[in-house]
Amino acid sequence: MKIMNRLLAGLVLLFSLPLQAAEVIDPRKSLGLNPAEKAEFLAEMQQMLGSIQGVIHGIALDDRDMIIKAAQYSGNRMARATPDSVRAKLDDEFKSIGGPTHLMFEELIIRAETDPTDELLLFTAKIMNNCMSCHAKYKVD
Ligand code: HEC
Repeated sequence: MKIMNRLLAGLVLLFSLPLQAAEVIDPRKSLGLNPAEKAEFLAEMQQMLGSIQGVIHGIALDDRDMIIKAAQYSGNRMARATPDSVRAKLDDEFKSIGGPTHLMFEELIIRAETDPTDELLLFTAKIMNNCMSCHAKYKVD
């Protein structure tokens, strides 16, 4: 019986180690979204990646309409479409990165009318700094 208990304790320890390690290694703050909110949130994120893809493609082809159309998906339209239940779980720091990111897409839409493509590319890189800094701080679950 004692041996069984020790074995059991050993097993519990063994399986809990990777979990503890993961918590230590991954310092990102959890947004605590439920599965439906998570699916919605990640779909928006993929849309953002799609916008970046379209913007870069448009810059490479000097196709202003392509840049504008791609950026529109991730501007204020997306900010408005965020479900209330998700919004309620986002803290101030998250919003202080997320809000300006959507606004930068709006700025890109305006700049795409006139700015040289190298400046548009530089501005797109700056937008992506926001992607990077938020991804470093948060996770969905
Ligand atoms: C304010 C915060 C924030 C900003 C800004 C942000 N993201 Fe995210 N993104 C997240 C979080 C949180 C996740 C989930 C990460 C996790 O749980 O591992 C995520 C996940 C993703 C994913 C993975 C989607 C999936 O289906 O797994 C992609 C792609 C992505 N983001 C692209 C972008 C791009 C591109 C930008 C910038 C244009 C961006 N994100 C800006 C917070 C943000």
